[in-house]
Amino acid sequence: MALTPPAPVSMNPLARLHADIMRERRRSEPLPPGEHEFSWARTRAMRTDPLRLLLDSYERYGPVFTLRLLHQPVVFAIGPEANHYITVSHAQNFLWRDGSFADLIALLGDGLLTIDGDYHRTSRKLMLPVFHRERIAAAAGTMVEETERALAGWEPGTEVDIYQWTRALAMRVAQRALFGFDPDASRHGFDEAEAFEQALSFYAADYALQIARGPRTPWTRMQRARRLLDGLIFGEIARRRASGRRGDDILSLLLDARDEEGNTLSDQAVRDQVMTLLFAGHDTTTSTVTFLFYELARHPQVLQRLLDEQDRVLGGRLPTAAELMGGEALPELEMALDETLRLYPPAWIGPRMNREAFELHGVRVPARSYVNYSSWVSHHLPEVFPEPEAFVPERFAPEAKAALPKGAYVPFGGGSRTCIGMRFGQLEIKTIATLVLQRFRLELRPGYTLRIRQMPTLSPIGGLPMRVRERALPGVLAGAADAAASPA
Ligand code: HEM
Repeated sequence: MALTPPAPVSMNPLARLHADIMRERRRSEPLPPGEHEFSWARTRAMRTDPLRLLLDSYERYGPVFTLRLLHQPVVFAIGPEANHYITVSHAQNFLWRDGSFADLIALLGDGLLTIDGDYHRTSRKLMLPVFHRERIAAAAGTMVEETERALAGWEPGTEVDIYQWTRALAMRVAQRALFGFDPDASRHGFDEAEAFEQALSFYAADYALQIARGPRTPWTRMQRARRLLDGLIFGEIARRRASGRRGDDILSLLLDARDEEGNTLSDQAVRDQVMTLLFAGHDTTTSTVTFLFYELARHPQVLQRLLDEQDRVLGGRLPTAAELMGGEALPELEMALDETLRLYPPAWIGPRMNREAFELHGVRVPARSYVNYSSWVSHHLPEVFPEPEAFVPERFAPEAKAALPKGAYVPFGGGSRTCIGMRFGQLEIKTIATLVLQRFRLELRPGYTLRIRQMPTLSPIGGLPMRVRERALPGVLAGAADAAASPA
């Protein structure tokens, strides 16, 4: 197995447009049923309300259908069977790098998320030890320490943007626990969480703006933020190479990695893996904490059950890593998290391209098509999750969860590309939630309406401002949720 990064992918929008058009011209077989003609309205709907568009298309055309988005036809494969087919049983037929999210490479480079084949297998194997259970448990101390530090500034009666707050916190946790960076060393003089927010906003811009280049375009802003983050990562790589300092972290593993032929990773290859893990390691966690508090504020009975459980099990003390890692010690928290990830799986789409033609649900998909699976859409199928819009954590009681069909619930993907940071993310979310719940109650602003941005991951548009209140006495939940607050 070789540690050789793949050939670069062009980030020139015109070159990519040309490649898409040529591929379509060469295609000799028809695409699955659906909407094949160009339509601005559909392209826009995919930006503004993809969940509705995709659920309606599923109703109309069945689980495998085509939608032309902008210039390119994209195949969607929805539901338990499709998720399992793409991520597990036929995963080797699907490439991430050639899929419709390849423009993430402009920010992340060739990290675990955007590579395939041999380089993906070798890189994943190299990093896996850091994600073993015992190593994750050891990160719990950092998570508690950082959460306590972040909570120290909270004053009852004030408002906190829980999304921005969690992003800054999760970024510090990822830097320290995954890479052994010292976020307080302030050698770079910029805010890493803000730089990521800035870089990622490129992917939420309108298509027309995304292809624009030049001063003040989203592309240029993204490149500027990327350079700041690059400076941080390359700086740490240089320091570690010079000092020879190593630890239990991923950066140390990457710097010392060597394949059978003795090849090592270049600084650029190390940077790409670090950037990918910094992104994936904080962005999804941030959204999940935010959506969890949003739903708890709207469901006082669920919140009360969580508080009762905390009082009963922890009695005000800090949780242990073991209590947070299994679902047994704090089952109410576990179910609330599962249900949050059903309703709002941050990595909501699995973008791929199929090498060979395949058939699924009796529908044939020609070779080299953009094919996406989607957890978000699959988690909203009423035949799998009755009343899919309702927040009902009991759906994930252990027996009910075990009875779900294969591929029905995929917030962390599946198969050989299952989220490598799943345990890390779950532990971090539960740590943050527990520490907040033990001390504070969070209320939505009256009349707040959740609007969701989905690019590149699900997050609340404009953040989530919440009013901080003192935690009520055990068993007494002061006030009710704001009835006006509702999801978009
Ligand atoms: C709530 C938290 C998280 C969720 C919901 C989540 C979700 C996902 C999903 C759905 C995928 C697969 C995407 C696909 O099939 O195309 C994935 C992959 C990945 N995730 Fe996560 N993730 C979370 C947290 C994390 C954390 C904390 C890290 C790092 C510490 C991480 C690192 C990665 C990486 C590197 C991949 C690519 C894996 C591969 O292709 O081998 N994720 N994640």
